[in-house]
Amino acid sequence: MDIEFVRSRFIKHFDGKTGKIYHSPGRINLIGEHTDYNGGFVFPGAVDCGIMAEMRPNGTEDTIMAYAIDLKDRVDFKLSDPNGPRASWARYIYGISKEMQKLGVPVKGYNIAFAGDVPLGAGMSSSAAMESCFACGLNDLFGENKVSKWDIVLAGQATEHNYCGVNCGIMDQFASVFGQAGKLMRLDCRSREFEYYPFDPQGYKLVLLNSCVKHELAGSPYNDRRNSCENVVKHIAAKHPEGKFETLRDCTWEQLEEVKDEVGHEDYIRAKFVLGEKDRVLAVCDALEKGDYETVGKKMYETHEGLSKDYEVSCEELDYLNDIAKECGVTGSRIMGGGFGGCTINLVKDELYDNFIKTAKEKYAAKYGKEPKVYNVVIGDGSKKISD
Ligand code: GLA
Repeated sequence: MDIEFVRSRFIKHFDGKTGKIYHSPGRINLIGEHTDYNGGFVFPGAVDCGIMAEMRPNGTEDTIMAYAIDLKDRVDFKLSDPNGPRASWARYIYGISKEMQKLGVPVKGYNIAFAGDVPLGAGMSSSAAMESCFACGLNDLFGENKVSKWDIVLAGQATEHNYCGVNCGIMDQFASVFGQAGKLMRLDCRSREFEYYPFDPQGYKLVLLNSCVKHELAGSPYNDRRNSCENVVKHIAAKHPEGKFETLRDCTWEQLEEVKDEVGHEDYIRAKFVLGEKDRVLAVCDALEKGDYETVGKKMYETHEGLSKDYEVSCEELDYLNDIAKECGVTGSRIMGGGFGGCTINLVKDELYDNFIKTAKEKYAAKYGKEPKVYNVVIGDGSKKISD
C-alpha cells in the first residue's frame, strides 16, 4: 500500500498537517484453528498486506476525528462518550483508545485516516490489523512506547470482547504484532511462549482461495463455539475438584469421555475437535522440522474435515473449494480462520499450481457464478511505524 496515498487523504480531510504513519498486517494460519481460546497451539504468520494509518494529536481533550479512506466515511466522536460511535469501523478506534487508556496511556484527542489492502471478511484478520495498527500509533504518540507488545495484543483482543461483540482468542492480534517476514510462529496460547519457524517450503506454494462468502464473527455462532468448549471444561472440573482446569488444553481425552453423556452431543463433538486440533499442530511442527510436507498436508485436510463436520464452521462454498483441491492433488487444504466464509489455505506443489487455480476458478464460477479470489501468500512483518 502506498504511503503517499494515505498521506494525501490525511492532509485533505484534516487541517493540512501531516502525522505519523503506522502499518499492521493481517495473518494466515497454517494450522491450529479454534484452539487459541482453548489454551492450545496455533501456527500463524503475518502477511504482506494490512492496514495503514496516519495519526496526529489534534490538541483537544478527547475528540477523535476519524476518516476511513476506503469507505470515504468520516466519523467524529468523544472518548468520554460512554456509548462511543455506531459505525463498526469507528468502534475499533474507540475501543482500542479506551483499552490503551486502561493500560495507563494518556490518550487525548487525535486525527486519524486509514486504509487497508487486506481483504475484508476473508478470514485474514483485518480487524486485528486495525487494532494493532491503532494501538501501535497510540503507544507511540501518547505513551512513549512504554506499553509492551504483549499488552498491545491483549488490548486488541479486549477491544473485540468489549466493543465489537466477538469473544476471540489471541492468535490474530499476536500474529499482527509479532509477525516477521518469512517466518511462521508456533504459539502456545496457554503459556504465551512462542517460536519463529522459517517457512520456505521448496517445491510448494501456499495460496489462499477466497470463497467471497463474507465471514462475520460478530453475533452468536463464533461465541457459541467458545461457550460449548467452556461448558465441557466446567463439567470436567466439577468431576475433578483436585485439578486445575481452565481451558480444554488442561483436559485429556479420557476426561472428555467421562462427561460425554452430561454435556450433550454438540458440545462433546466440538470439544473432541479441539483436542484433536491441538495434537495436529504438534504433529505439523514435527513434520515441518523433517521437511515432510505430505504429513503437513494430510493434517490440513483432517482439520478441514473436523471444522466442517464436527465444529460446523464451514459452508457449502468452502467445502466445495476443499473438494476441488483434493481432486487436483493439492497436498493440503482447509478452511482458514474462524470460518463461516472467507478463505481456504492450500499447500500445493509448484507443478500442480496452475492447473489447480484454473480448475478452481472454472468449477467455482460454474457453480456459484463468481470466481474465487486468489492470494499468493507472502509472509511479512508485524506492526511498525513506517513514517515520522
Ligand atoms: C478468529 C478469532 C481467533 C481464532 C480464529 C479461529 O480469527 O479471532 O481468535 O479463534 O478465529 O482459529
